[in-house]
Amino acid sequence: MPKNKKVNEATYQSVKGMHDIIGDDFYLYQGFAERAAEVAIYYGFKPIETPMLEKEELFLRGVGEVTDIAQKEMYTLKTRGGDRLALRPEGTAGVMRSYLEHGMHSLPQPLMFYYFGPFFRHENPQAGRYRQFYQFGLEVLGTKKSVADAMIIMMLKTILEDAGINNLQIDLNSIGDADCRGNFRRELVNYYKKHLRDICADCRERLKDNPLRVLDCKNEKCQPIKAGAPESISYLCSGCKEHFKEVLEYLDTMKVEYRLNPALVRGLDYYTRTVFELSMVTESELGEKSQSLALGGGGRYDYLAKTLGSKKDVPAVGASLGVDRVITAPGYEKFTPRIIKKPKVYFIQLSPEAKMKSFEVIETLRYAKIPIVHAMAKDSLGAQLAQAEKLKVPFAIILGQKEALEGTVIVRNMDSHSQDTVKIAKLGEYLKGLK
Ligand code: HAM
Repeated sequence: MPKNKKVNEATYQSVKGMHDIIGDDFYLYQGFAERAAEVAIYYGFKPIETPMLEKEELFLRGVGEVTDIAQKEMYTLKTRGGDRLALRPEGTAGVMRSYLEHGMHSLPQPLMFYYFGPFFRHENPQAGRYRQFYQFGLEVLGTKKSVADAMIIMMLKTILEDAGINNLQIDLNSIGDADCRGNFRRELVNYYKKHLRDICADCRERLKDNPLRVLDCKNEKCQPIKAGAPESISYLCSGCKEHFKEVLEYLDTMKVEYRLNPALVRGLDYYTRTVFELSMVTESELGEKSQSLALGGGGRYDYLAKTLGSKKDVPAVGASLGVDRVITAPGYEKFTPRIIKKPKVYFIQLSPEAKMKSFEVIETLRYAKIPIVHAMAKDSLGAQLAQAEKLKVPFAIILGQKEALEGTVIVRNMDSHSQDTVKIAKLGEYLKGLK
């Protein structure tokens, strides 16, 4: 740091919209990611981790140049060598890039991946909207089959419900493919052109660049116009109609409830056919219903591979969950990560000799897979016993100077206060025998 630069508070403040994840909050993220991964693995998905930095071009092409993400929200940088890179705003483009780069089309199809990690969007920070946020994602690459769309939707629902999140609302739409989307777009533009005076300035712009996005407008002024707008499902070609019908049939069979939402178009350009979002509906004491920010969303992206330069199409479908939103949702069950074990033993060390010997005891117990808790910096027996009682740990082991010299410890039952002296070498076996 330059010498004359004053260190002030701002130096040790994190960047706006980006947070440290500390203490129990860390376990909330980790616990959820573990449980979601368990579901994914059960369904045959494999993990994938793509880099956080990719070529900016990947997202400009993938997500689409005329999207909020590409125009306003990407963190981009130029390297010393002149390459333009971007912090990944989402995961799908990176997964498809990886599939193409590694020639995965030659493997048995489809390939199914899951991922968990941070993503970056320069949005206005507010509750549930961050600049660094975490997604858990699922992608199925290499199949057109409608069963894959239904499976992804069903899996998101399962993962959320397992996590205690009920009252889910699944919004669903089909936005067609290259054969039919043109007709719909034309009709939509014609309709909106008749109402140019009644819509907001943003929508007038959207009509020029990316007309489908008018359906995503939240401006009060545009709502009556939106309500009367043509609906994409009325313009689906026979292939898309059949595909969508099959998705709905699968969902009906699996008793997954959904709402057809003709205004659902999503904010990324790579989608074709099925699109969906999951949110929570909560009811206040006064009976007023409100819908949460989307907990997750996704859809089919059959043309993304070609957009990225592949000669062949790679039909695909996927979705991701916003983990920051999931773990703060009402009802979320706080999963404890598997690596966190409830301690069976509080380990008390009473003298410098004992502290010296303590690592031998800790290692003996670690090999015996007996979870312990200990306070390295506390010295008095009273303080350490009080801590053991507070944590409701069933046994304490006490290592004082005498025990350290004899290679033993005292094992104390915290309930009955009965004590035994045990050789350190036999400690694992002894503790395993205690109920
Ligand atoms: P997305 O709808 O942009 O889709 O993001 C998915 C989820 O990430 C959202 O539903 C939300 O829960 C969460 N999320 C998005 N932005 C933020 C933010 N700024 N702060 C907190 N949470 C946020 C995608 O990203 C697609 N890649 C999903 C997909 C996968 N489609 C196909 N495969």
